[in-house]
Amino acid sequence: MTPPKPIKIHPSVLCADHGNLSQAIRHLSQEADYFHMDVMDGSFVPNFAIGAEIFKIVRQNSAVPLDVHLMIREPSRHVAFFRELGAEIITIHPEADTQLAATLAQIRKLGATAGIALNPGTSVETVKEVLPLCGHVLAMTVNPGFAGQDFLEFTVEKIKELGKLSEKHGFALCVDGNINAERVRQLHPLGVTNFVIGTALFKDEPVEMMRAIKGHCPFSPTDL
Ligand code: DX5
Ligand code: ZN
Repeated sequence: MTPPKPIKIHPSVLCADHGNLSQAIRHLSQEADYFHMDVMDGSFVPNFAIGAEIFKIVRQNSAVPLDVHLMIREPSRHVAFFRELGAEIITIHPEADTQLAATLAQIRKLGATAGIALNPGTSVETVKEVLPLCGHVLAMTVNPGFAGQDFLEFTVEKIKELGKLSEKHGFALCVDGNINAERVRQLHPLGVTNFVIGTALFKDEPVEMMRAIKGHCPFSPTDL
């Protein structure tokens, strides 16, 4: 039996203390594997978030790689900009791009890992052709746009399906939306290796929480 893959945690910078961001980033860097940067355009999603100034603060205070979640229309117009700002993973939404395969190739050509995000209502079937082009797949467990929403239980079936496909194609499977320690425990055995954590991480002491999550994993089947 192959051993379970290690857990990677992506704190959501949207949920960090923006009044004291430099210090928050330095603190989180002790255990964060990536920083998750939510970029919202007020059109693809009904909210605006994270511009270049925040990227610069994060970059100036940490060497942890950036995972950029683009919730924007026509992402191909902006991927080079975010690569310049330090993105290591660039994730786009298929619903926002009429030239999906071309944009994924553009991201790879820029030297970043290409990712796609699947909204709760978007099926695996609609993106199966491009899965071999992706190094990262982000399964949304809330409708994108806001932190602090309720986890949508019906997304778990799709996560199971993506877990199997991640073995076949070799992409990292990540979840985003109201993830907490219990959800990591539930979803890691399904093949999810990467976890965006927002609200739940900042309810308590974030570095301790990340250590506890990683320390308890891999979970034995009796823990489930
Ligand atoms: C939602 C964002 C998430 C969000 C996560 O549109 O994509 O990354 O910041 O926050 P929580 O964990 O509170 O759902
Ligand atoms: Zn996100």
